Amino acid sequence: MNGDWPGYGLYHDKITTMSTTILTTGDDTVEKKTEVTIAPHYKIDKLDWGEIEGQRVFLFSLTNKSGHQVTVTNYGATITSWVTPDKLGGKSNIVLGFESIDGYLARPPYFGATIGRYSNRIAKGRFVIGNDTYSVATNNGENHLHGGNKGFDKVIWCAKPSDDGSASVTMNYLSKDGEEGYPGNLQVAVTFTLTDDNELLIGYYAETDKATVVNLTNHSYFNLTGDVASSILDHTLQIYADNYTPVENGIPNGELKNVAGGPFDFLQPHTIGERISRVDGGYDHNFVLTRKSNGLELIATLADSVSGRTLEVYTTEPGMQLYSGNFLDGSFKTSEGKSINKHAAICLETQHFPDSPNQPSFPATLLQPGEKYETATKYRLVINK
Ligand code: GLA
Repeated sequence: MNGDWPGYGLYHDKITTMSTTILTTGDDTVEKKTEVTIAPHYKIDKLDWGEIEGQRVFLFSLTNKSGHQVTVTNYGATITSWVTPDKLGGKSNIVLGFESIDGYLARPPYFGATIGRYSNRIAKGRFVIGNDTYSVATNNGENHLHGGNKGFDKVIWCAKPSDDGSASVTMNYLSKDGEEGYPGNLQVAVTFTLTDDNELLIGYYAETDKATVVNLTNHSYFNLTGDVASSILDHTLQIYADNYTPVENGIPNGELKNVAGGPFDFLQPHTIGERISRVDGGYDHNFVLTRKSNGLELIATLADSVSGRTLEVYTTEPGMQLYSGNFLDGSFKTSEGKSINKHAAICLETQHFPDSPNQPSFPATLLQPGEKYETATKYRLVINK
């Protein structure tokens, strides 16, 4: 198993303990010890999901008291489902994912996965740190995308469920020096926590032993109707961003462009479909979040009036890639056999800006030895009756 995670394998499906009973008959006292098995107090279930490259893959279910359930696998530190109630008393899954590992081995476009070492694009797959030039895979035309050919979405992470009673699991991965061309041994941890307030909190942590670039995100595709047959073009979106980064082939030109009045202006809520025809290819752009602090801040709200579901997005990141599922083309099907077509789901990928390693004016993505990479994103689901 990758990494050096001392707690790995210590997950308790059940706890066996000794129960002591004192029996008193007349003057005699007999102490009787019995072995009993009790359910653990945490709201986590663990399912064996099979084996890949000789390593075990698991599915962890995190459940809260209001009936939300999030499942996460240590293959790609991937969110595979988020089942939530709707306003009519129904329940459905609001993210794209599969019910078995086979779906993921067919290489869907990053459904629910943790993306790294660098999410989004690096122009021409090249960047310079100090006196060294590094080359990473050009797996998106002439550019690098989402960590390369075998990014963090396709590796097996160590998983350690929390032992403090919370519905939380931490995934840990050691990305070795030179992996996919990136410098430095990078120790990464991603913690998924489902709270009783229907929040899915994702905390990211990394350390390196050599200067490198890091930009981690989660690539969940949301469809708040819970039905991929219903496109997300009718979802309403609000993004607290005064600017976005214009791109050519996904690479920014360095400009921060004001959204005012155009199809990127989501300062007030608009449906995604309202102005999408004015955006070549559909939305696949980084928004420059208008932040008031460095902490977790509400930066976007996605809503579907039919189910009554609203998703609030909070992050510590400076940017968010809005991707309207433009490349989905029906070639992947859900586990129930429904085609996943264009605009079947939407991604709200909180992150640093694309190509930051080559754009000195953008917030830096350089991580030096001794520094801590710490970011967080929270998705909160509200059901409006
Ligand atoms: C990101 C990119 C898109 C696309 C998807 C995956 O969101 O910005 O261009 O590559 O991932 O298909």
